[in-house]
Amino acid sequence: MEKNYNKYLISICILSFVYASAQDLPRKIPKGLIFGAATSSYQVEGAWDADGKTQSILDYLYQNSLEQITDGSNGNVATNSYYLYERDVEMMRELGLDFYRFSLSWPRLLPYNYSERINPAGVNYYNNLMDEMLKYGIEPVVTLYHWDLPLELAQQGGWTNPQIVDWFSDFARTAFELFGDRVKYWITLNEPQVFCYYRHPGDDIYKCMKNSLLAHAKAYHIYDEEFRPTHNGAIFISLSTEFYEPVNSQDAEAAEDATNYHWGVFTNPIFSKDGDFPASMKEKLAAKSAKQGLSSSKLPDMSPEEIDFIKGTSDFFGINHYTTKYVYRNESENDYEVPSFYDDLGVQMYQPDSCQIGYSYLVCSVPWGFYKLLTKIREEFDNPPIFITENGFSTHGGLDDQDRIEYYKTYLCAMLDAIDEGSDVRAYTAWSLMDNFEWARGYIDRFGLYEVDYESEELTRTPRASAFMYQNVLRTRSIICGT
Ligand code: BGC
Repeated sequence: MEKNYNKYLISICILSFVYASAQDLPRKIPKGLIFGAATSSYQVEGAWDADGKTQSILDYLYQNSLEQITDGSNGNVATNSYYLYERDVEMMRELGLDFYRFSLSWPRLLPYNYSERINPAGVNYYNNLMDEMLKYGIEPVVTLYHWDLPLELAQQGGWTNPQIVDWFSDFARTAFELFGDRVKYWITLNEPQVFCYYRHPGDDIYKCMKNSLLAHAKAYHIYDEEFRPTHNGAIFISLSTEFYEPVNSQDAEAAEDATNYHWGVFTNPIFSKDGDFPASMKEKLAAKSAKQGLSSSKLPDMSPEEIDFIKGTSDFFGINHYTTKYVYRNESENDYEVPSFYDDLGVQMYQPDSCQIGYSYLVCSVPWGFYKLLTKIREEFDNPPIFITENGFSTHGGLDDQDRIEYYKTYLCAMLDAIDEGSDVRAYTAWSLMDNFEWARGYIDRFGLYEVDYESEELTRTPRASAFMYQNVLRTRSIICGT
């Protein structure tokens, strides 16, 4: 009896050892999957009025304290990348990045919004940055629009004015002409739901959403017809894709609504077989509008021509992903302003208790949500090629960022799980290369693989522990998942 028991104990020990080692075995990164890091113009460039640049809506709002910024700061100087781009490229090399995602400042390139009046200093800056990157084999991934709309266009209604479709596509064409020989990845818009919501939280948000879709699609067609034949690059959109988990099975519809209002409103028109806005969103908003005494739905109609024009206009399913929220519906808890986007959506959301919370409210580490998101995209959109354009974690500074390492590790492993099951993930981008101006959280919340010392005149950049971890993943093309 005792002998058998010992045998039993030994086999348990062996099994646990085998299991633990299997968990700790490095997992291979699939061939062809490329890695990068990202920033955006307003968050890093500084030089807000240098060399002929005019004001963007962001310069105006933040300089005049019209937005609530926790530390009262703005992006006038930011990380000064307009002048320090060589150091930025050096950091990309240190990390071993395949690509760097950055955005073009529209008012730096076209200060007067006419494509005939290009600002040579702006062109020069982006040429220098790209050429420096390409010298070391780092591919530019260029976002055309990361929220810094020229002020003059904002004053004319910005994204709610249908003329934005032409304004944006003229700007896009200018960028393709100037840089298309070197840029193989173009992103039209970064997170239209987010910029539409922040500028137009009421009923106008839906006009903004539709105009964004048309502007994106027009830029896509221009590239596709006039530039792709010679430049042979890809063009796509980047959407903010939180994952929404129903609290109970009866909340499945609430979770689906949350998904639709935040990103299905773009992915359905672009990636689904039939195009157009999601049917349930159309129905719900038509009913809500009638109830509020509007003569037509606040969600504009799309004509058959518009549906066709938008459908299929993204070479990748571009996703920015940070976190997951639980969702449920309880009419009596709704205390959103009326009318407002969140009143229309009418669901309650909260973050899982168990998550390791980042310092920004945005980031609460839920790697299983990332896995579920990638699976949902694979299953619902016929396995499109996915470009992860942002993923990252915030702290309040410090070089020994073990919490960020844990976040990256678990999210990368969740991504590998989805890939093993067939998800077609082609690229992964860490947000961010370095600390930068984090919108309402100013310079308090820090997302950088590199820490920026804002007290130093040189805005010194120093790699954090997470930078070494990321470098190691890229160099060894493997990651240890386990516990
Ligand atoms: C935005 C970035 C931002 C990041 C972290 C994303 O939604 O595209 O500009 O810094 O989230 O908040």
